[in-house]
Amino acid sequence: MSIKLTVDEKVYSVDVSPDTPLLWVLRDSLNLTGTKFGCGVGQCGACTVLMDEESVRSCATPISTVGNARITTIETKEDKTVHNLQKFWVKEDVVQCGYCQSGQIMNAAGLLKKNPNPNDDEIISAMDGNICRCGTYNKIKTAIKAATK
Ligand code: FES
Repeated sequence: MSIKLTVDEKVYSVDVSPDTPLLWVLRDSLNLTGTKFGCGVGQCGACTVLMDEESVRSCATPISTVGNARITTIETKEDKTVHNLQKFWVKEDVVQCGYCQSGQIMNAAGLLKKNPNPNDDEIISAMDGNICRCGTYNKIKTAIKAATK
């Protein structure tokens, strides 16, 4: 079945089953491998992208539910919120192994689009479900705070 979708400011048409997770459309059909596969069951946050302004777990988002929403991934060339976060991720030296970090940044972008100036508790609460096995949580919080200034 041919499905149209907008990802990182480009329109694509993909030929996949409607229940295909958005994650696999991004990675396998569009070769946008910056979005990562972690658990595949909506539990870790590694696959987070934005659907319009909302962060979603692409492994648990069937392509048939995307409709006309704009999908933004870590590979966006236009989204200023994502680019600003990336800048402070580097400045604050957040990354260790790096595997979860595209999902961390995209979830942080979803937070800042809703709440441009979150306090510590709001950051911790919003980022709570994004797992980092290296334990970079404090640096993630520092980078998000720095990106709001
Ligand atoms: Fe989607 Fe873990 S891979 S939440």
